[in-house]
Amino acid sequence: MKIKLAIIILAFFSIGWEAKSQDIVKKNFELAEIQYQAMLKKAMDITCFPRTVKQDKLWCVPAEDWTSGFWPGILWYMYEYTKNNRWKDEAMKWTHSLKDIQFFVGHHDVGFMMYCSYGNGFRLTANPKYIPILVQSAKSLCKRYSYNVGCIQSWNARKSIGRKNTWEYPVIIDNMMNLELLFWATQATNDSVYWDIAVSHAEKTMKNQIRSDFSSYHVVNYAPDTGEILHRQTAQGYADSSTWARGQAWGIYSFTMVYRYTKDERFLQTAINMTDFFLNHKNLPNDCIPYWDFNAGEKGFNPDFEYVSSDYKVIPRDVSAACIVASALFELCGYVSDINKKQTYYDMGIRILNNLSNNYYRAKEKENHGFLLKHSVGNLPGNNEVDVPLIYADYYFLEALIRYSKFRK
Ligand code: GLY
Repeated sequence: MKIKLAIIILAFFSIGWEAKSQDIVKKNFELAEIQYQAMLKKAMDITCFPRTVKQDKLWCVPAEDWTSGFWPGILWYMYEYTKNNRWKDEAMKWTHSLKDIQFFVGHHDVGFMMYCSYGNGFRLTANPKYIPILVQSAKSLCKRYSYNVGCIQSWNARKSIGRKNTWEYPVIIDNMMNLELLFWATQATNDSVYWDIAVSHAEKTMKNQIRSDFSSYHVVNYAPDTGEILHRQTAQGYADSSTWARGQAWGIYSFTMVYRYTKDERFLQTAINMTDFFLNHKNLPNDCIPYWDFNAGEKGFNPDFEYVSSDYKVIPRDVSAACIVASALFELCGYVSDINKKQTYYDMGIRILNNLSNNYYRAKEKENHGFLLKHSVGNLPGNNEVDVPLIYADYYFLEALIRYSKFRK
């Protein structure tokens, strides 16, 4: 009798707790409606895409910027959740404004730009006009692939931070995110060329960019003709040997995504190991919103830029990394077989969403220039976008909320 009563009480509390958690989805989307309506009023030029806040103004960037797809992507998520055609109309309009990017070969981020915009648009509307545009985007991305190296070149040749080295063929961990466009393109066309390139890139990255403790290097520079590894460094992290929080987040998310397509256990295990590094790190704050780099200011890590520790008495957090990880956790927990791990990942995803929904991280109505979240870091070594709203933090936050709400159905 006593046991029965305990079970009923436990079930009652857990239903209550789930209902409260689901509430964060509803409440966040209610606020998102207010925020993005305000942003739409500020962002009148559809060739200029919201990215962040600079000098207390909404900062927008041209279509060629790596972040241009996130704003149309946010509008698609708003449509997905609300089913309101007003959001769909805006999403279509902003997505179409990226049409020429299908031919863009200036850097590797055509995957982010086109898959977050056209990719979400196709997923939600099955608009056949989007197919050739996405396929052409995949072709453009493949132009940056080299069979000698086995990877897609992220950036054009450039100097490393501090000008220590020249990177002729830099590949960054972020690049893994662009592979989803390639997997999709093979499924859409039956041409395996995109798939094979994606798998090669993922295998090389798994081998060369992930350390034995499952942290990640931000940049690996290869010799273009032989594929030999020349440098392992960072551009946006604290030091070459440190772990840049968003880089680790890109790895967690992207290896999970690569497993979704390939069902290759090696990629799943990499995603799990990278996740465990992140969640179990001694420097992860209690609220699970990471510092911008896990080793920022730590002894034994030597930055190639001038880091004045007194400028950072409080080390900035990177909300964008937390959002990417939260979204990834809701996918990854669906793949792991260990029941305890599954529960841990699910709980951590909810914990991050709950913590981001408090007044410190989340904007109040009509504040924050229409962004939902505050406190991200874009590029601290470049002294750019430190402790600001970032469009991709909002994008992955909405994605995580939607994934969470679907998980329960
Ligand atoms: N892909 C660039 C970044 O994460 O900042």
